[in-house]
Amino acid sequence: MSLPPKKLYIKTYGCQMNVYDTERMIDVMTHEGYEVTDAPDDADLVILNTCHIREKAAEKVYSDIGRLRVMKEKQAKKAEASGRESKKSILAVGGCVAQAEGAEIQRRAPTVDMVFGPQTYHRLPEMTDQADKIKQTGARPRIVDTDLVVSEKFESLSKKGIARKKTAFLTVQEGCDKFCTYCVVPYTRGGEFSRSFEDVMKDARKLNEAGVLEVTLLGQNVNAYHGMSRENEEWSLARLIRHLADVTDFKRIRYTTSHPHDMTDELIAIHGEVAQCMPYLHLPVQSGSDKIVKAMNRHHTIASYMKIVESIRAVRPDIALSGDFIVGFPGETDADFQATMKLVREVDYAQAYSFMYSERPGTPAAGWEAQVEEHVKSERLAELQEELNRQQRAFNDKSVGKVMSVLLERTGKQDTHLVGRSPYMQAVHVDVGDKEAAESYFGQMVDMKIMSAGPRSLKGEFAT
Ligand code: SAH
Ligand code: SF4
Ligand code: F3S
Repeated sequence: MSLPPKKLYIKTYGCQMNVYDTERMIDVMTHEGYEVTDAPDDADLVILNTCHIREKAAEKVYSDIGRLRVMKEKQAKKAEASGRESKKSILAVGGCVAQAEGAEIQRRAPTVDMVFGPQTYHRLPEMTDQADKIKQTGARPRIVDTDLVVSEKFESLSKKGIARKKTAFLTVQEGCDKFCTYCVVPYTRGGEFSRSFEDVMKDARKLNEAGVLEVTLLGQNVNAYHGMSRENEEWSLARLIRHLADVTDFKRIRYTTSHPHDMTDELIAIHGEVAQCMPYLHLPVQSGSDKIVKAMNRHHTIASYMKIVESIRAVRPDIALSGDFIVGFPGETDADFQATMKLVREVDYAQAYSFMYSERPGTPAAGWEAQVEEHVKSERLAELQEELNRQQRAFNDKSVGKVMSVLLERTGKQDTHLVGRSPYMQAVHVDVGDKEAAESYFGQMVDMKIMSAGPRSLKGEFAT
């Protein structure tokens, strides 16, 4: 008699790199015979793929661990009452909190059996086996694997893996050497690493053959990509995108996240030349004050940022611009904040993310004296978000009446609804009438007429 498959539950926090990593963990573990479940109480292996970027994100992990512990205790009591042996599920913490805190996690939360970083999850099968064996003896596993060597992971992963959807992430670059003074990423993900041209192309071909229509090239600093080829030639991101457009059937190519310092003329130019390169650019500026971006160690100025915005709009006037902002960075005065507001009004964003500065252990700015009071941060955030929301709404309103291609990539709230993305990354909702139609249109790229706009999404109808 064969045993039923083991079950895996993963919760993902944080950025798209983590979403990508979660998909790869699923690949690795389904290869080992695991099945994915969306019920943590049913799982043999529970993984929290965590984010360390702001304090709130990191603390959320501990409250989730607490909840899982209570759930396990209840299960054990139930099992005991009915004379059964309780399920010995494994609780693992992966991702950036794991990398930053390592064994400290198990001191703070002893229910955690395994801790592994973003660069070691290809070793999940071995770690899980080891944890399983220790659990069977009744002891607590204390496995910690937080090496920071990136290349080994990609080598191991490229042997596995399958695409499931019409949209896919493809990591081309990882880690960061920029050391912005507020940011944990260089410590949790390690130094900058570009995958080789051949490795990237191998994955790209696999996705292409699996029918993927939209690929998003990923990296913490994706436009710093400089992968080498076997002939020892260097490939820039722009050249890679051009090549992908030439040799694959991808209808849409996106890339994120870009750093203003690495936004080359070559990369700006392809937005006007390569049809598959989507008219959307996420280009974080963080602040509109030269004094603050300098203190952040951002390697760019406000003038150089505005120059990029101008150049990209010259080649692609309809481009949707997105950004990240931090308010209340140490030393930020009212005047500095007003400079941010001015920049936002000048750029006119299609969407953006904004955060209150969060002191992160181990980063330079965390120790600085001129910390901004919490109430000032939240007032500034509210003012900034009001303007950003207004701009997003205006951008969405302008779409009404236009016909756009939409890639229908997920099901909506009702089973006759589908949701897709416009070229500009807006979510577009459509009611296709019945369930069968929803099934047949799922994963298709269709022309839609935009009928109405909301603050965060659009409604469309088929444009025939
Ligand atoms: N590599 C990307 C961003 C990575 S983190 C880049 O350089 O743009 C995503 C966003 O989180 C950052 O752009 C920044 O706006 C925000 N962020 C990072 N550290 C933060 C901190 N300590 N407090 C508040 N926001 C932070
Ligand atoms: Fe963090 Fe700055 Fe690197 Fe982005 S560029 S990941 S914000 S250190
Ligand atoms: Fe968070 Fe790590 Fe991404 S800290 S934002 S999950 S790189």
